Amino acid sequence: MTPASPWTTRPAPRRLSTADIAARCATPAFGEVLTEHMVSLRWSAGDGWHAGEVLPHAPIAMDPAMVGLHYGQVVFEGLKAYHQPDGSVAAFRPEDHARRFRRSAARLAMPELPEELFLESLAALVDVDRAWVPAADTRSLYLRPILYATDASLALRPAREYRYLLLALVTENFFGAGSPPVSVWAGTGYSRAARGGTGEAKCAGNYAGGFLAQAEAAEHGCQQVVWLDAAEHRLVEEMGGMNIFFVVDGALVTPPLSGTLLPGVTRESVLTLAARAGLAVREQPVPLADVLAGCADGTITEAFACGTAAVVTPIGRVVTEEGEWRVGDGATGPVTGRLRAHLVDLHLGRAPDPDGWRY
Ligand code: COI
Repeated sequence: MTPASPWTTRPAPRRLSTADIAARCATPAFGEVLTEHMVSLRWSAGDGWHAGEVLPHAPIAMDPAMVGLHYGQVVFEGLKAYHQPDGSVAAFRPEDHARRFRRSAARLAMPELPEELFLESLAALVDVDRAWVPAADTRSLYLRPILYATDASLALRPAREYRYLLLALVTENFFGAGSPPVSVWAGTGYSRAARGGTGEAKCAGNYAGGFLAQAEAAEHGCQQVVWLDAAEHRLVEEMGGMNIFFVVDGALVTPPLSGTLLPGVTRESVLTLAARAGLAVREQPVPLADVLAGCADGTITEAFACGTAAVVTPIGRVVTEEGEWRVGDGATGPVTGRLRAHLVDLHLGRAPDPDGWRY
């Protein structure tokens, strides 16, 4: 039997004029410019997914004893939608984000949102907020699905009621329009994730746990943290909200998905595009000592971060407690530049899409 549709109401009408939207989007730093609407869906053990609505983006009511607030049952996603040359709007690899959202929810003992509802929610929001999808090549509509536990109970157990929200924001490239090379801090004072933990789930707590390390990075003049393995602080794993790649002797190298790092959709896109372009691609453990030695002796010529928000961002400098190392000549290298350009062309509908990544 096909379950009844969970969608209950028609989209809330648009309130802002095109000129108002343009004014709000004048300088869209990541996270600051949210669109006018959001999608909401609820889940309970008895009713499954229900009460699907498109609502005006507005504060929500919550019980102060809500499980999500106290015990951190909160998972989210991040994906982008782009204007296409034919006037349509395409989300990039939404099915992959839907799958990861389900895996994250399962890890936190939460209900899994079916892929078709995830996709329907994207379509509903993009449809009603279409006027917000930016035309500039360096900007996009960033979609933020989030699922959290709403039970009003301090009992220490998984909640029995949940709410899914989909928000959207207009954003410039994460590190600014030109995506200039960033400096990264590899400290040993904090860890992101250990074996058996929640490192491969996109849960809110993983990000809160990184803020102090991020502040430490800023004290060392760096924009980002490089996370090392929690057991020995020896192997490079990922960055604060992004995956990391190196160009070593012409080959593209990235740490393997060991269970402690986030399986990035952009990471997977980069691996696919690089292999197809004929580059040697290796997923292998990357000791920090080898990175520093490789920067010093010139075998590492490039490094970059990648993620939905960051796309492909060059890394120009690595800083540790022992000193600092320049990566290559500190500027955007040719492999980084080509991969980035190919990915951006795919996003913007300017390159063929043999894998059906545009939706
Ligand atoms: C993304 O790239 O979508 C992320 O989730 C990182 C973000 C929290 C800055």
